[in-house]
Amino acid sequence: MLIDGHGRTVNYLRVSVTERCNFRCQYCMPEKPFSWVPKENLLSFEELFLFMRVAIDEGVTKIRITGGEPLLREDLDSFIKMIHDYKPDIDLALTTNAYLLPQTAQRLKDAGLKRLNISLDSLKPAVAHQIAQKDVLDQVLKGIDKALEVGLGVKINMVPLKGINDDEILDIMHYCKERQIKVRFIEYMENAHASQAIEGMHGREILEKVKEKYTIKALGREGASPSFNYYIEELDYEFGLIDPHKHDFCENCNRIRLTAEGNLIPCLYFDEAMSIAESVKSGDIEAAADVLAQVLKDKPKENRWSEFDPNSEDISTRAFYETGG
Ligand code: GTP
Ligand code: 5AD
Ligand code: SF4
Repeated sequence: MLIDGHGRTVNYLRVSVTERCNFRCQYCMPEKPFSWVPKENLLSFEELFLFMRVAIDEGVTKIRITGGEPLLREDLDSFIKMIHDYKPDIDLALTTNAYLLPQTAQRLKDAGLKRLNISLDSLKPAVAHQIAQKDVLDQVLKGIDKALEVGLGVKINMVPLKGINDDEILDIMHYCKERQIKVRFIEYMENAHASQAIEGMHGREILEKVKEKYTIKALGREGASPSFNYYIEELDYEFGLIDPHKHDFCENCNRIRLTAEGNLIPCLYFDEAMSIAESVKSGDIEAAADVLAQVLKDKPKENRWSEFDPNSEDISTRAFYETGG
């Protein structure tokens, strides 16, 4: 079992396979970064998997593949198959913007993927375009349909932004209810790489929007999930709210993140990381396990989004496109 320095059990590994993305979402990567990690610095699937095996053997039961946009990485299905074949009962999921799903969903399912979390911030073509800075909506909706058609589990993530898509919270919820899929509304997490012109909605404000029309009942958190669930009686529907500005989910944080170049990141907010690249490149599994133990020991207690002050220079410098959220 993997236990961190605060006594929390870590059983969830998020693995980013690329920081590149085909969207330029304003809250994540509004402009192409000054330089991408050179392709030769990326760990191969075999190298990533070498570390993942160590983590699985020590107690990881849930793996999520992220990016950037993970479907941009060639032969991703072979990587998924590698993980699935090693431990078929692992909770194996992927987070995507759905743009490439129409042509990849079936292969992902066949390779052993179980679930997808998909970003859907608007149902209006012009607003989706404004957020992703590309005309994406039609293809994203086709991607969601395809994922459902091939039998993948689907959840939707929406990041409400003031004056941009905050009037679509209920529309997105109705879209999800019709398809019997769960939506989670996510508070925008301020970071130095995002557009500084956007303003997120506080969890409380998101709930107010829902309460304008419906009665909601707080259900609570599902285990260590950052999502707090609510039930709408009139719709017989459950949705989630991810509210890191309250950060009470940090108490039960069960996850660490591995980036595409092999940095092991203990917390989404902070810049601290340790590399496993050297150890996996030389096949030194013990050295990789030592880095993992050190990262767990030093895992911070909680994030600092609760302290965010728009007038202060103090902002997270961690890039979401590197950590995969
Ligand atoms: P499930 O396995 O379906 O519960 O997925 P998930 O919520 O773990 O994954 P997803 O990639 O859909 O993440 C949803 C949102 O939650 C993203 O915006 C993440 O950045 C955010 N999130 C996930 N874990 C953490 C965390 O440890 N801290 C903070 N602050 N946000 C997190
Ligand atoms: N704040 C909140 N959520 C974010 N995501 C990316 N950047 C941010 C941010 N700054 C979300 C995406 C995706 C998930 C992995 O992370 O919407 O669904
Ligand atoms: Fe790409 Fe996802 Fe970041 Fe949007 S949030 S730019 S889709 S990595």
